[in-house]
Amino acid sequence: MTTDPGLFEIIRTTRSMRRLKPDAVPTALIRQILEAGTCAPSGGNMQRWRFLVVRDPAVKQQVAAFYRRGWDEKVAPGYRAGAPAPGMEREKFDRLLAAAEHLAHHLQDAPVWIVPCLEGGAPTRTSGASIYPAVQNMLLAARALGLGATLTTLHVIHEREVDAALGLPENAWSYAILPIGWPQGRFGPVRRTALEDVVFGDRWGEPFRDA
Ligand SMILES: Cc1cc2nc3c(=O)[nH]c(=O)nc-3n(C[C@H](O)[C@H](O)[C@H](O)COP(=O)(O)O)c2cc1C
Repeated sequence: MTTDPGLFEIIRTTRSMRRLKPDAVPTALIRQILEAGTCAPSGGNMQRWRFLVVRDPAVKQQVAAFYRRGWDEKVAPGYRAGAPAPGMEREKFDRLLAAAEHLAHHLQDAPVWIVPCLEGGAPTRTSGASIYPAVQNMLLAARALGLGATLTTLHVIHEREVDAALGLPENAWSYAILPIGWPQGRFGPVRRTALEDVVFGDRWGEPFRDA
């Protein structure tokens, strides 16, 4: 288990870990991850977040079937027909898709999921801003503990069925499913577009330079 590298090293190596071992994750670690989540900011500090920790195989099976259907019928064909992610050769992108497909077909095998939800209000861009900081905190915390996780959202394709399986009340919305477990592979650096290509200075299109 890798424990506590520095913060920037954790940030640089928190990538999607989609191939997970089925081995149980101690509840104390899940609590640590959840606590990191609740350290995040939320609008007005209202903390409308609710975190569903799913370990029941029957619930996971039910939800995973809809996730898989969303992947097989909608998401995978779209990605396969489209261009690779920016800066990624086709072969690397195909490997990413293979990993995503593996997860889509094994979601139920991840020993634990955290489903971050918001209670009350409608799902909008601003409401999302009150839950995704918690999600990222939890991904970083999982990584710091040596646990693999992935931010997934494609369950919303069959949202009604998934909500029913999770027992969500009318006024609660799920924003992600984070499958968590001990990773089969090793953590490595994330691959991203260079700063020069995504950062502007003062006005859109102007280069950002040293002052
Ligand atoms: C909003 C959002 C939704 C995502 N949904 C899914 C998903 O449903 N399934 C999945 O396997 N990965 C999902 N991902 C993970 C991304 O594919 C992944 O973060 C991206 O390819 C970069 O790879 P990395 O995390 O390994 O660096 C999602 C990520 C984000 C930010």
